[in-house]
Amino acid sequence: MRGPRSDSMNRDFQRVMEAAFSAAKRVGEPQFFHERHQELRQAEEVFARNELVQRVFALLGKESLAVGHGIKHAQSVALFAAAIVICDDGNADEVIMALVAGLLHDICRNQQDHALLGAQRARLLLADFPLDVDFCERVANAIAVHEAFQEERWAAIGDKSLLANALYDADKFLWGPENFTSTLWEMLALREISLKKLHENWERGMAGVRRVRGSFRSLTGKAYGPDFIDRGLLIGEAIGHFLGAQSGE
Ligand SMILES: [Fe+2]
Ligand SMILES: [Fe+2]
Repeated sequence: MRGPRSDSMNRDFQRVMEAAFSAAKRVGEPQFFHERHQELRQAEEVFARNELVQRVFALLGKESLAVGHGIKHAQSVALFAAAIVICDDGNADEVIMALVAGLLHDICRNQQDHALLGAQRARLLLADFPLDVDFCERVANAIAVHEAFQEERWAAIGDKSLLANALYDADKFLWGPENFTSTLWEMLALREISLKKLHENWERGMAGVRRVRGSFRSLTGKAYGPDFIDRGLLIGEAIGHFLGAQSGE
């Protein structure tokens, strides 16, 4: 549902989005896309031909499942998570688990404590498939620990597997350029918020992105995650300057 935005507000947002897109063009794509192109292609192939993954993907279109930042976010996280598993020498089952966990990780995004609730919901959904308990538990546990700044829960659940680490890192790759060229604007389109308010909250949001930079968990996440974040931050700074100039600072 789209919030009621005036025409002048829409024009203002259009201008700031254009500033974001031109900054993203200057900043360029994260290295992961070039250097790990093969692994991403492999992940896409498994995504396209695996029956379980396709059935879970079809579930996301159902109205009762809130996929938070959208189906595109879920699909991107699934592909990144699977590519990370491939890069870090995970096995074929873990690649499929990563795709399923990526697709389901935000199914309770609209509720508080969405990671834990999402894990429970994923368990229930996966119970309808002919899967062994271990598969479902590993996917659910990875979902339970995917949220940023929840280190205590991560320690309590104790899942430091490649699968859980890959899901966490894949989701945080999306805090890079994608966050500033797509996710943010999709979220704001649902709310009535002025550019002034956006500017007031901008630094707090940027601080969160900076904080996530040091939190990557897998080998591949540690190698490529900071590059995603640095490029996102450069775009974020350009947007921040634009917003500052708009409000006369
Ligand atoms: Fe999430
Ligand atoms: Fe997410």
